[in-house]
Amino acid sequence: MEFDSSPGESQGVSKAPPEAMSADLTKLGSHLISKIHVLMRVSLIYDAKNETFRQFSQESLQAVNALIQKERMVSLKILKNEIFLNEERLRYSADGFTSFKYVLTHWKKKLIGGVTFRELVDERVLNEFIFIFNSLEDGKEDNAARFTKRLADCGIDFVTVTPLEKSVSEEEDTSLEREDNREVAKKVFFETIGTVKDMITQIEGKQYPGVRKLKRLVQKTIHLAVEDESILLGLTTIKNYDEYTYNHSVNVSIYALALGRRLGFSRQMLTELGLTALFHDVGKSKIPKEVLNKPAGLDDEEWVLMKKHPLMGVETILNLKQLGEINPRMVIGIFDHHLKGDASGYPKLFRKKEISLFGRIIQIADVYDAMTTPRVYRKPWTPEQALAFMLRDRGKHLDPILLKVLIGLVGIFPIGSLVLLSTGELGIVFKPNADSKWMDRPQVILISRDQKGYVKKELADLMATNGGNQFKWSIIKTLDPTEYHIDIAKYFL
Ligand SMILES: [Fe+2]
Ligand SMILES: [Fe+2]
Repeated sequence: MEFDSSPGESQGVSKAPPEAMSADLTKLGSHLISKIHVLMRVSLIYDAKNETFRQFSQESLQAVNALIQKERMVSLKILKNEIFLNEERLRYSADGFTSFKYVLTHWKKKLIGGVTFRELVDERVLNEFIFIFNSLEDGKEDNAARFTKRLADCGIDFVTVTPLEKSVSEEEDTSLEREDNREVAKKVFFETIGTVKDMITQIEGKQYPGVRKLKRLVQKTIHLAVEDESILLGLTTIKNYDEYTYNHSVNVSIYALALGRRLGFSRQMLTELGLTALFHDVGKSKIPKEVLNKPAGLDDEEWVLMKKHPLMGVETILNLKQLGEINPRMVIGIFDHHLKGDASGYPKLFRKKEISLFGRIIQIADVYDAMTTPRVYRKPWTPEQALAFMLRDRGKHLDPILLKVLIGLVGIFPIGSLVLLSTGELGIVFKPNADSKWMDRPQVILISRDQKGYVKKELADLMATNGGNQFKWSIIKTLDPTEYHIDIAKYFL
């Protein structure tokens, strides 16, 4: 594959893929889900006259009416494990995960698939809505019809409730979605993002939190990596514009842990490495947001500041509580993560020094994640392009042996790659082949759309044959998902 530009620059401004909802709507939508979540919980404890309840009910009202004012109506619909707002999939962030999960689970239990508000809502309407919902029994087929009728009995005819739709492909998805490990991994992943975010917020407010909670999460991640690493690697395809720094830190720690495991690190060493990776960019919390999020190139002065982040990171972790959990290896790892083999990196040193192993591991993980993440100012590189670039760059900047380990880890068709198959079907690489001899035959998710336009997913093992000695599918080439308007992360959630 040919490409000449260097990462981060000169790829032009990328258009948001059409699958993506506008940032504004996503924000309002996520806000609404979090308010509904709280109100649902509060309504189980208090009645409508209670002051606490009324306060939360007001907040939910504002959230729903803000959307109705903007969009004329609000329809929330549940399909499989996703919530659609006005027919578009609503993405959730690390913060929103618990609320999404709660609303999804409770609506599904009562077989409620959606609700539409066609006019502005007042306190009475919202209260009826919540308490009628609570009165429904779990698993009753006619709950939605009963719900709509009871609303109509109260004179509310502009709110409609629809039953949960069983999608045609739901059964086919069981192998992808009902795995316990996957659910646990998601929870740990989002909890780690949330914790990193909380810690950075505290550090920005000049408070220095402890590290024990994060350490426990790293230990859980290591446990999951031992069980099934491909689940974690799949989660790294979630690239979030708004939460970039936190998301990036967690992704880097997943890659670093996977590399560390292949180097035979003990659990203790892996825990240290995972924590170091989570903290590698913590120094950026001392850099003004305007500089950090600047869409175009930085000027000289801003670069000077930016290049201080490894050193400021060291300073920050030395100020954390529970300093006993931090050791020199970790401190040096953070300091080293932008040093280059040929001394062209930063911070500038008076004397050339060996880059520590933690530093080299994090560097590789960092570059790979940064290149494959879309930023406001550029399209992401595909995993294959990123690996090819890193290979070309090896020796000068990156540790060639670790780079080989990374390639062995993500495969020649890295998890999350969009591929064209010999049958003409499109697939997303889901899990590498356990046998390294067959690195070109991973498991892929075949994707197609049914007549209604819903995406169907089916798992295919590229080791499968046509009965004889011919393979059923082979990978022809990788494709750029942004050109096909495919949101890869969706297939790993
Ligand atoms: Fe960095
Ligand atoms: Fe980084």
